[in-house]
Amino acid sequence: AGNRTFTMIKPDAVVANNVGAITKLIEEAGFRIVALKKTQLTQELAGQFYAVHKERPFYKDLCAYMSSGPIVPMILEKANAVEDFRKLIGATDPKKAEPGTIRNLFAKSIEANAIHGSDSDGNAEIEGNFFFSNFEKF
Ligand code: CMP
Repeated sequence: AGNRTFTMIKPDAVVANNVGAITKLIEEAGFRIVALKKTQLTQELAGQFYAVHKERPFYKDLCAYMSSGPIVPMILEKANAVEDFRKLIGATDPKKAEPGTIRNLFAKSIEANAIHGSDSDGNAEIEGNFFFSNFEKF
């Protein structure tokens, strides 16, 4: 057992058929998948999910991009989940992501950066509950 984080594989990585490769790296790094589905956001739902970035210059583009195709949200469990998962995915900008990280391997750009990872335990809980109800978490 451990604590939890939230992630979603973004449209660029889903469209590139990298769901299996990314999920394999996540499991090999010791994370247990608690919940998983494939879905697609509307622009409005993407706006709600990323409401904390509302005032950022990239917000509108981000919402258009995140609703442009299917995504694969997941809840993950591991000791020290939030911090360890952010290490596994690497920096937001793939040019700055360490070799071997998921963004280094799969991201296309700072926006189409393959995967999301929650930045705190509180946000992990909020973001996981955005996509999953309690009877989808095992
Ligand atoms: P994510 O970790 O999901 O959180 C916000 C997202 O905004 C980020 O990943 C990127 O997909 C996107 N984004 C686009 N441009 C930028 C930028 N300049 N700085 C940070 N995030 C950006």
